[in-house]
Amino acid sequence: MLLSIEQELSEIFGKAFESLELPFKLGAVQRSNRPDLGDFQCNGAMAAAKLGAGNPFVTAEKVAELVNSNDLIEKIDVVRPGFINLFIKSSAISQKLSQLADDSTFGVAEDLSAHKVMIDFGGPNVAKSMHVGHLRTAIIGDSLQRIFRFKGYEVVSDAHLGDWGTQMGMLIEGLKKRQPDLVYFDETVTNDYPTESPVSIQDLEVIYPEESGLCKTDPEAAEKARAATLELQNGRAGYRALWQHFVNVSVATLKRDYGELGVGFDLWKGESDADPFIPAVLEELADKAISIQDQGALIVPFRDEEGENIMPPLILRKSDGAVMYGTTDLATLYERVRDDKAKTVLYVVDGRQQQHFKQVFAAADLMGFNENTQYEHSYFGTVNGKDGKPFKTRSGGVMKLHDLIQMAKDEARKKIAESNFGSDFSQDEKEEIAHKVAIATLKFADLRNFRIKDYIFDLEKFSEFEGKTGPYLLMQVARIKSILRKAKGIGAEAGALLETSDNEKALSYRLLEFPSVIDRTIDKRAPHFLCEHLYNLAQEYSSFYQKQHIMKEQDNLKQASLLRLSQICMQQLEAGLQLLGIETLERM
Ligand code: ARG
Repeated sequence: MLLSIEQELSEIFGKAFESLELPFKLGAVQRSNRPDLGDFQCNGAMAAAKLGAGNPFVTAEKVAELVNSNDLIEKIDVVRPGFINLFIKSSAISQKLSQLADDSTFGVAEDLSAHKVMIDFGGPNVAKSMHVGHLRTAIIGDSLQRIFRFKGYEVVSDAHLGDWGTQMGMLIEGLKKRQPDLVYFDETVTNDYPTESPVSIQDLEVIYPEESGLCKTDPEAAEKARAATLELQNGRAGYRALWQHFVNVSVATLKRDYGELGVGFDLWKGESDADPFIPAVLEELADKAISIQDQGALIVPFRDEEGENIMPPLILRKSDGAVMYGTTDLATLYERVRDDKAKTVLYVVDGRQQQHFKQVFAAADLMGFNENTQYEHSYFGTVNGKDGKPFKTRSGGVMKLHDLIQMAKDEARKKIAESNFGSDFSQDEKEEIAHKVAIATLKFADLRNFRIKDYIFDLEKFSEFEGKTGPYLLMQVARIKSILRKAKGIGAEAGALLETSDNEKALSYRLLEFPSVIDRTIDKRAPHFLCEHLYNLAQEYSSFYQKQHIMKEQDNLKQASLLRLSQICMQQLEAGLQLLGIETLERM
């Protein structure tokens, strides 16, 4: 990893403070908010005064003295009451930038291949179409897996399908009612089931809501579904075979929807895959006296030293023997920790499941899973409608993910037509643009908010080509590409970077921040830091381009250097967008 100028300066200043027997961290250097007074500043002397180091101006002067000769710093000014302002050598900026740009990851990657990060996201449920509630986990989870991978971690993502709960029993019973003669229901048959599914996803999407509605009002139906789920979990052959068909037809549709979003998983495991680990988990919990029997159920209580309950217990097995959502999550974590040897496990799941993960993780801690593994719920807020309530369709129904993507595409087509972009492009290219703009719209609008915050879904606003939006960024990338193409047309190409001029400074500093932005994004599991950076970078390029007339530049070497700077900027924007899961366009 390349150190940013801030980091390098902070290191130098930290040492200076240290040699005055003051804390290293006082040397923290930041970009100056008064570029006329300096490129960077260090305010540590003021903080030192608060620690009793005496007159801050004197401290600042001593520090300045200590760091005076240096190949980064052009000039140091100490101003009252004790600020240290720094100007950086123009040659140092361009040198740093060349180094950064020559690296295929812009100085981000480190060898972290021994650190396995497992990311659990997506979490779609079998037989139910994905809805707006599945949007954020897909977008944030996918972005995080890309960013961790880019940094050099070994990443394994898992879709963790909801394929093991009572909804499976409902489907089995629902199908039995409709087609009682299917071989899967004949208990005398135990193998050689047909390979062709007896139901399509459309069938399941009809059966599921009907049955789930019925189970809410009819206790007998609910009891049947519960019993069927238990039989399935206990291994009844016909039910397992049927279940496999349900999973297969669902996964085919899920792959279509995720494919459209450009989201992928390494593993398509489900809750059911935790099943083989449940006996071992239950045994260990019992052996270590972590679990207890309570009114016929098996639970993990959470108590403080006085024996008071600090949160509701985790229910492992109900009195009827059925295991729960928490049990499968604990067993899945068991596999991830003990077999997969994950060092970090991230759950990119809705914030409304915080209590669930607190319980699962508390039980996991009691089992000692936290010895070499860190697990955390990297949760996110809700997508709301303009009324501040969870986003719904106009008629108040659940918004399907597929329909949402279509809506975004329609809006993109409309906006593109209005702005007259690519009016002479082929129909295919126009469609490609609409698709990429739509995905960029949805993803950027989601990722630009700190993940734990709720946001209001406003497609019209998200689709604007102005402001902090996905389409704006795609347009900026296409713009720089077009500048580079035009330059080539007049025989000008990117060359070596010359010493950084004043017009290029802000843009260059911004580009150099990339590695630390990625680190912050990883640290907080929060892609909005990257979004903010890319937006600022795009804006910085615009103001640079306005000030600096690249095409009219007479000095060939200077022009080649300006084009190189433009190219680096385009490449970083493209790489950053890629990390958000957003594909760019050559032109628009
Ligand atoms: N299937 C669940 C749901 O739709 C989400 C699963 C999240 N992942 C997990 N390991 N619990 O609510």
